[in-house]
Amino acid sequence: MTVAGADVAVAGAPFAAHRVLGIETSCDETAAAVLLDGRHIASSVVSSQIDLHARFGGVVPELAGRAHVDLLTPVVAEALAEADLTGADIDAVAVTWGPGLVGSLLVGVSGAKALAMAWGVPFVGVNHLEAHLFASTLEQPDLEPPLVVLLVSGGHTFLVELEAPGRYRLLGQTIDDAAGEAFDKVARYLGLGYPGGPVIDAISAEGDPTAFAFPRALPGATYDFSFSGLKTSVVRTVERHPEAATADVAASFQEAVVDVLVAKTMRAAEHVGATGVCLAGGVAANSLLRSRISEAAASAGIAAYLPSRAMCTDNAAMVAAAGWWRLAHDGPSPLSLGADPNLFLDLIA
Ligand code: KG4
Ligand code: ZN
Repeated sequence: MTVAGADVAVAGAPFAAHRVLGIETSCDETAAAVLLDGRHIASSVVSSQIDLHARFGGVVPELAGRAHVDLLTPVVAEALAEADLTGADIDAVAVTWGPGLVGSLLVGVSGAKALAMAWGVPFVGVNHLEAHLFASTLEQPDLEPPLVVLLVSGGHTFLVELEAPGRYRLLGQTIDDAAGEAFDKVARYLGLGYPGGPVIDAISAEGDPTAFAFPRALPGATYDFSFSGLKTSVVRTVERHPEAATADVAASFQEAVVDVLVAKTMRAAEHVGATGVCLAGGVAANSLLRSRISEAAASAGIAAYLPSRAMCTDNAAMVAAAGWWRLAHDGPSPLSLGADPNLFLDLIA
């Protein structure tokens, strides 16, 4: 079979797409979105599998993959319908090809290739981490680099200097748990359910953040993070103070995480002379992190760019945005592209 659009586009020539369909299946969210001209979100549909995994206290990879198979087609259909378009109107299909759960990624990648071939349009693989970085800037038309971006999700925690789209310099990263993972583990230990971030965020509003002085790891000059000691300290504290109010423990834990995230982000921003700081990833939805980073940026006289909460957690609009830019910059991906569960950002020195 000859697929004209896909074949021509695979030649690697930059491709300007008007309407991009984005697909995201790297973890437990099945998502599809239509993005116009790389910036305007015509639709963004996210079907969360939280209820499916909640009783196991975390994402079960086998269940996630099977659920994506069931959900992908209806979610794509809904995204097209909400944008008032059909497949014939789509100019390119962008999909997350890593990092993430390999079985889940493969569902999205295979589905995206099938749609691109059926519609005769280019296909582009998107790095999920780069998509989160695009999410932090998608809603902000007048960003001026250099920016420092704090990406904090369930699987990753790092600080990058964004010199320009596609040009990322790693400043520091977690040496053990991701920030979201720490929220999830502490919430599970406190019996608060899954996912832990939103519930700790909510319950902390009723707690005293000064009740317990949890450790702030790696306070020195490094931009690296460490959260596993903090989690252990929460466990020890609850063992020693079984009478402690859960809201106080949660609020004190959240305070310790946010303290470190904000201090390092602001120090990095000063170091690189950033015009602003951006948040990205699921933990960027955290209320305390959002208010503290806004206050810190305001007092440093630089901008704070906070994506909407829906744009912080996994979604396909950010995949379409990164895909649109990659298409315009590098051209489409070959249809031989697979899934890479361990993909990291392409960094500059
Ligand atoms: O980016 P994301 O949706 O998925 C990954 O790529 O990992 O991030 C999910 C993570 C989970 O660990 C969840 O607990 C955390 O983001 N999270 C939050 C909040 N909302 C989600 N953490 C703290 N406060 C929140 N409000
Ligand atoms: Zn994510």
